[in-house]
Amino acid sequence: MDQKKYELEINSAKTLDELSQLEIKYLGRNGQINKLLSEIKNVPNEEKREYGQKVNLLKTEIKKYIEIRKLIVSKEKSEVFFDKTLPGKAYPKGSIHIVSYAIEEITKIFEKIGFIRVSYPEVDWEYGAFESLNMPSGHPARDDVETSFIDVPAHPNLGKMVLTPHTSNGQNREMKRVKTPPIRMINISKCYRPNWDPTHTPMFHQFEGLCVDSDISIVNLRGTLDYFAEKYFGKGTKTRLRPHHFQFTEPSFEVDISCNNCGGIGKYKGEKCRVCKSGWLELGGTGMVHPNVLREGGIDPSANSGWAFGFGIERVIMMKYGLDDIRNYYSGDIRFLEQF
Ligand code: DAH
Repeated sequence: MDQKKYELEINSAKTLDELSQLEIKYLGRNGQINKLLSEIKNVPNEEKREYGQKVNLLKTEIKKYIEIRKLIVSKEKSEVFFDKTLPGKAYPKGSIHIVSYAIEEITKIFEKIGFIRVSYPEVDWEYGAFESLNMPSGHPARDDVETSFIDVPAHPNLGKMVLTPHTSNGQNREMKRVKTPPIRMINISKCYRPNWDPTHTPMFHQFEGLCVDSDISIVNLRGTLDYFAEKYFGKGTKTRLRPHHFQFTEPSFEVDISCNNCGGIGKYKGEKCRVCKSGWLELGGTGMVHPNVLREGGIDPSANSGWAFGFGIERVIMMKYGLDDIRNYYSGDIRFLEQF
């Protein structure tokens, strides 16, 4: 057998498949080596021994060439280490942030009953945050919400620039946008107040409802609050109103929802409920829109009435899932965020 020929053939093989074919061709049962061995019968007796040794040497050599070539080919093509049929590695999946998720849920709940989702500026003038809401400059009610002012020259008519402390700044803008009632607004936006503790972060979100039409009463407000409470917190959740004071509503209330942990009883398994302590949890502020606020928005209070509410998104999430520290929402800790 011509040495150059098999050497060349083996060394120019490019795949393991080609090498297997050569293995069969030379070393297989009907391969060339066996053929040479079978010819031993035609070799004169005294040469048989030498002939046999030569063929066996050739066999070992071909084997060696093939093994070496196999290693080279598999390294070059990584054929030994790459299995095309194995499933690929899955990329880690992200999850929607709890606040974004709650915003989506709340938007859907209100859109179902005809409310329009808007998002009014988080940087506004004093006029939007206070004046338009029946809080003239110097009014002590402004102190209730600690406000961050932006260090730019004040607007001649609208006052200083502020990071809005609540979404109520959307009320006046929405009245001026819609002009003629009915108005059904759900304004969801970022708000800012300089607090940092388990239930407050300096940046947070509120959702503000506003409904104005010719014959809107507290009955509509209660119905809407009950609808929201059941949809967001779960069936059977009740609401109650407690008298309160806000400059922009008259009368004003604070809304509570019945606690889902203890079913509104205040006791859980014979002990004081750990979540609410009293059977109720405070949701936020609400009331009938003050005539001055309607007037400021260009709406005639003698022909129209309305209600409004403002609730914290971080707060409702906390109430829904029984969380105890909203600072976790913004910690960037994936282990916390992945749970929702
Ligand atoms: N703006 C109030 C706050 O941030 C919440 C609020 C209370 C909004 C009563 C309203 C309302 O629309 O009617 O504390």
